[in-house]
Amino acid sequence: MRRLVPKSFFNPVSFVGAAIAAISFGLILFLFLLEAFAGHQKPYMGIIAFVILPGLLIIGLAIAVVGMVFERKRVHVSEDRFPRIDLNNPHHRSMFGFFSGLTIILLLFSAFGSYQAYEFTESVQFCGEICHSVMKPEYTAYLFSPHARVSCAQCHVGSGADWYVKSKLSGAYQVYSVLFNKYSRPIETPVRSLRPAQQTCEQCHWPKHFFAEKQVVKNYFLSDEKNTEWWISLLMKIGGGNNESGPTSGIHWHMNISNQINYVATDSQRQIIPWVQSKRSDGTVITYTLSDGSVTDEQLKSGEMRKMDCIDCHNRPTHIYRPPNESINEAMTLGWINPRIPSIKATALEALVRPFATEEGAMDSIGIFVREQYAHRYPEASRTMKADIDTAIERLKKIYSRNFFPEMRVSWKHYPNNIGHLYYPGCFRCHDGKHVGDNGKILSRDCNACHVILAQKLDRERLHLSLEGIEYRHPVDIGDAWKQMDCSDCHNSP
Ligand code: HEC
Ligand code: HEC
Ligand code: HEC
Ligand code: HEC
Ligand code: HEC
Ligand code: HEC
Repeated sequence: MRRLVPKSFFNPVSFVGAAIAAISFGLILFLFLLEAFAGHQKPYMGIIAFVILPGLLIIGLAIAVVGMVFERKRVHVSEDRFPRIDLNNPHHRSMFGFFSGLTIILLLFSAFGSYQAYEFTESVQFCGEICHSVMKPEYTAYLFSPHARVSCAQCHVGSGADWYVKSKLSGAYQVYSVLFNKYSRPIETPVRSLRPAQQTCEQCHWPKHFFAEKQVVKNYFLSDEKNTEWWISLLMKIGGGNNESGPTSGIHWHMNISNQINYVATDSQRQIIPWVQSKRSDGTVITYTLSDGSVTDEQLKSGEMRKMDCIDCHNRPTHIYRPPNESINEAMTLGWINPRIPSIKATALEALVRPFATEEGAMDSIGIFVREQYAHRYPEASRTMKADIDTAIERLKKIYSRNFFPEMRVSWKHYPNNIGHLYYPGCFRCHDGKHVGDNGKILSRDCNACHVILAQKLDRERLHLSLEGIEYRHPVDIGDAWKQMDCSDCHNSP
């Protein structure tokens, strides 16, 4: 040993450095083997094995070298500044071989390590699980969405070095804001620095490939004692994209590459849109403005101008926080909550929307609330349908834990979803019948413009059905209100 390493190595500083490096190296090997054989990956292991330990290894080596430099200076004050290497000297030769070998091994390991570190910082685990409490809402919603197998990075970073660096810079800031508790609750939306949809969504969804229609059937239960059932069948006109295969029309018309829509929003969540301009492929330009005078010229001037892309409608492709009404209707349709329990729709809604400070608190009090309601108001059902009520409570807890995150103040209320128009303004931000074009055309809110209402049925009433589209009938009598007001004016509160 004494012959292999230079004399200057024998000093306390270099010893400490070498010890740090050796221990880190050993630990990396150990964790690497553990990960290879353990099968199940643990989120913290990756960050330790491929980010922290290699860093320590390099620091250890650097300390050892610094120690050697000082030791040389101390001992050989008058000699040359650099050591002489003479490959004819057998001692020098073996030392040279030893260090070259070590360097190559180290380089190989650090190449492997940095690739692993790169992969790791791009993984869903890293984004979703490391800052567990902060990302819990986004991560939970993501796990139960159609994109659960698409990684966070495929939408948030995409390919290419520039966005990788950008995302790591903003990521570093995010780590800082988590460590020092500086992040906002809930995390702000929309994400202003989101990568343009052409470079993310359109890598998988080919915008020219939107054709034809898609049927959407929805079931609802009213808040009366009988939980009266109502359903509607809509044929969504999702076509639009490709003018090589015939005329283009339909919802994705906005996205046809040859058309372009710009708009100005006056609020930070892009919900109030008083100015819209469409540029058609034939060169016609139409400017639509909100005609009811609710937005002043100053507000309009200070608004944000944006070119419409996928995110302006699909802003919740994966972080979907569903309104309680929708989740309960679905659970009742599937029989997870028995619709024969009297007033279960109204009771379930009330159980979910009370304000809770923590998820734990909610889990406890949802059950207590529902049982009390039934003991008090329906003592008979409370006994005869006990099992059904218990199942309903379990389902409500599940709905709560997937859609409400009181610690981060996240729920459907904070994150509007722009698809549709029932619970949020959505399409009616522009298609509210009040946006008038400079050529006199009004952006239509005709109920059969975006979807054909194929059929609808209230309880045991006769089925209304027509392939041309039937006239809409609101499930409870509210006169003409649904024609004049936006649906979300009433339906945004549970
Ligand atoms: C299918 C694409 C997609 C995937 C996959 C995805 N996101 Fe998102 N994410 C979005 C979009 C789009 C928005 C912006 C919504 C907006 O601007 O209105 C967003 C917004 C966010 C926000 C801001 C808060 C919010 O809800 O608006 C956070 C935080 C976030 N994502 C984290 C994640 C994490 C963590 C993962 C992986 C577990 C992930 N995202 C996976 C598309 C995606
Ligand atoms: C890595 C590929 C990939 C990327 C990137 C991606 N998606 Fe998807 N998306 C998919 C797949 C696969 C499905 C089908 C999932 C299924 O059918 O269960 C899907 C489904 C969808 C659906 C239909 C959802 C439903 O309810 O059936 C919409 C809408 C959608 N994506 C929009 C987007 C938007 C907007 C973005 C960009 C923010 C995006 N996607 C990015 C792969 C991707
Ligand atoms: C004007 C609003 C709007 C824009 C802009 C928009 N979409 Fe859509 N998209 C919709 C609506 C509405 C639906 C039907 C939703 C439903 O009922 O599930 C839909 C459906 C889809 C579907 C599911 C189709 C199916 O067969 O089920 C995908 C995938 C999709 N959009 C991707 C995209 C992508 C990618 C972009 C950007 C190039 C985009 N959309 C732009 C409104 C829009
Ligand atoms: C930012 C404003 C804006 C929003 C939001 C918006 N649209 Fe549009 N939409 C327009 C404009 C502008 C036109 C084009 C009118 C014209 O000049 O012909 C249009 C046209 C359409 C058309 C007719 C296309 C054709 O065949 O000519 C459909 C269908 C449509 N939109 C559906 C939707 C749906 C569904 C949503 C919600 C998911 C939506 N739009 C949201 C601005 C908007
Ligand atoms: C600008 C396009 C557009 C217009 C105009 C429009 N709708 Fe819709 N509608 C949609 C879209 C998009 C959805 C969402 C479908 C989905 O959630 O998959 C929807 C969903 C619905 C739903 C189901 C709501 C839910 O989410 O459960 C009903 C009911 C409905 N529309 C009724 C109407 C009525 C009534 C009118 C006329 C006043 C109308 N729509 C006008 C685009 C439109
Ligand atoms: C003036 C207020 C008001 C307006 C505007 C309004 N609704 Fe309603 N809507 C109600 C009330 C009240 C109920 C009954 C709620 C209940 O019994 O739970 C209801 C019930 C419904 C339901 C079934 C209940 C459920 O589970 O959500 C649907 C679907 C619905 N409305 C669709 C629409 C659509 C689509 C529009 C816009 C075209 C609209 N409503 C506009 C007040 C309104």
